[in-house]
Amino acid sequence: MDKKSQIQHSCVKIYLMGKKILLSGIKPTGRPHIGNYFGAMRQFVELAKDYKSYIFIADYHALNFIQNKAEMKENIIGVLLDYLAIGLDPKEVTLYKQSDVSDHTELTWVFDTITTMPYLMRAHAYKDAEAKSKEIVVGTFNYPMLMATDILLYSPDVVPVGQDQKQHVEIARDTAEKFNHIFGETFKLPEVMIMKDVAVVPGTDGRKMSKSYGNTIPLFAEYVEIKKAVMSIVTDSGEGIPKNVYAIHSLLRPASELLPIYENKTGKYKELKELLIEDLEKFIAPLREKRKEFEKDIPKALAILKAGGEKAKEVASKKMDEVREKIGVNVY
Ligand code: TYM
Repeated sequence: MDKKSQIQHSCVKIYLMGKKILLSGIKPTGRPHIGNYFGAMRQFVELAKDYKSYIFIADYHALNFIQNKAEMKENIIGVLLDYLAIGLDPKEVTLYKQSDVSDHTELTWVFDTITTMPYLMRAHAYKDAEAKSKEIVVGTFNYPMLMATDILLYSPDVVPVGQDQKQHVEIARDTAEKFNHIFGETFKLPEVMIMKDVAVVPGTDGRKMSKSYGNTIPLFAEYVEIKKAVMSIVTDSGEGIPKNVYAIHSLLRPASELLPIYENKTGKYKELKELLIEDLEKFIAPLREKRKEFEKDIPKALAILKAGGEKAKEVASKKMDEVREKIGVNVY
C-alpha cells in the first residue's frame, strides 16, 4: 500500500472506530415478507450510514427448519440477493453468513455451560414449540444461545429487530452479564432497537405476518402475487374502515393521507384493496427489478458474502480469543 492509500485507510479506520455498532440478521427459511422489511430490514439500510454495521444470514439457525441441501443453498443465496436489492452496500456494511464464522458455534458451547435449562425453558419460541409438538430438537431449545453469540461476538450497541425477537436480545444481555460476572468484564450489553409502529406488522389475516401462518405479502412479490395476497385480506362484514387492509396500507402512506381516503370510501372494500395493490406495486416493483439485476451475477454476490465472512471472522475470532483467555483454556 502506498503512503496516500495508507493515510486514507487509517482515516477510514478512525472514522469507523468512532461509530456505534449495529448488528442484525435474518434466517434463510424462505422468501422474506414485508413484515421482515418494515420490522427490521429497512432499519438495516437506513442506519448503515450512521453505524458500523454487521448484517448476516443466520443459516445455522435455519437448519432447525430447512434440512435439505438444495433448499438451504437456494435460501442462503436468496437472502444475499434480498440484502443487496434493498440497498445494503457491501462497502458500508459487513455482509456475511453465520456458518462462515465458526466462533459462533464454539461460543455457544461456552454459554451452554453457564445457562440453566429452566431459564431457556422460559423462552417464547421454546414454549410455542412445546405447545405444538412432543419432540423438540436441541437446536430449538438452544436457539437463544446461538443467537446470543451472534450478537455478543461483535460488541454491538444496537440490535434492530421486530418485537418477536425482543426476548432473544434480552437473553443475550442476560448471558453477557452472567459471563462477565463469572469470568470478568468481556461482553458489551447490547440494546434492542424496535420501531414502535412496525414492531408487529400484521399479515393478511390480522395476525402477525409470518411464513408459518401463510399470511404474508412477499417483499419481492410479482404483481399477480400482490393482487392475490391483497384480495385474500380478511375484512369484517361491518361498514367501517377495513382494519386489516388499513393496517397494511399504513406501512406505505401516513395516516394524514390515508384516513381521509378510507373515510371517503367506507364500505367500499374492493376499491380500497385495489388502491392498496397499486401502492404495494409502486413500492415493490423497483425492489423486484433491482433483485433481478443482482440475480444475473450470482458469483459476484457470493464473492461479496465470502469477503464479508472473512472480515466478520477477524472480529469474532479476536473476541473468542479473549473468551478462551478468560475461561482458562488458553495455556500456551
Ligand atoms: P427472522 O428471520 O424470523 O426475521 C427477521 C427479522 O424480521 C422481523 N419480523 C417482523 N417484524 C415485524 N413484524 C413482523 N410480522 C415480523 N416478522 C419478522 C424479526 O423480528 C426479525 O428482526 N432469530 C432471528 C434471526 C437472528 C438474529 C440474530 C437477529 C439470528 N441471530 C442476531 C438479530 C440478531 C429470526 O429468526 O429472525
